[in-house]
Amino acid sequence: MRKFLVLHGPNLNLLGSREPEVYGRQTLEEIDHMLQEWAEQRGCRVDTFQSNSEGALIDRIHEARDRYDGIVINPGAYTHYSIALRDALAAVPVPAVEVHLSNVHAREPFRRHSVISPVVRGVIAGLGPVGYRLALEALWAELDGGGSAGA
Ligand code: DQA
Repeated sequence: MRKFLVLHGPNLNLLGSREPEVYGRQTLEEIDHMLQEWAEQRGCRVDTFQSNSEGALIDRIHEARDRYDGIVINPGAYTHYSIALRDALAAVPVPAVEVHLSNVHAREPFRRHSVISPVVRGVIAGLGPVGYRLALEALWAELDGGGSAGA
C-alpha cells in the first residue's frame, strides 16, 4: 500500500483562528480529515504530523526513508531560512512537494524566497487547503510513472 507523510510546520496548529483573511477558516484538524478522506478513496495511507519545532520535523523526514512513498510539506516560516530542513529533504531519497496555503509571492518580499524549493519536486502556493490534496495527486501520478516536469 502506498504511504504518504504530510508535515505541517510552525504555527499551522493555529489554523482557523490564525490570520483567517490570509490562511482561511479551516482548522488543521479539518484539513487532515480531508486528507484522510482522500487516502480512503485512493486506498492508501496518509500520516499527518504538525510541529512547531524544526528538529521534530527533521526527525520525521529522516524516518521517512524506506517508509513513505512521498512527502508533502508546508514548512511554514522555516521555508524562508531553514537550511537544516532543506538538507534533511535533500538527504532522504523520498520525493517531496512543498505546499503553502497563501500565495507567498503576493505577500511580503521575504516570503518570496524559499530555501526548500530547490530540493523538492514542485511547489503549490496560494490555493488554500486543496493544495495539499493536489500535492498528493502529483506524487501519486509520479509513482504511476507520470514523472514530473523536472524528472
Ligand atoms: C505559509 C507561508 C509562510 O510564509 C508562513 O510563514 C506560514 C504559512 C503558508 O502556508 O502560506 O507559516 O507556509
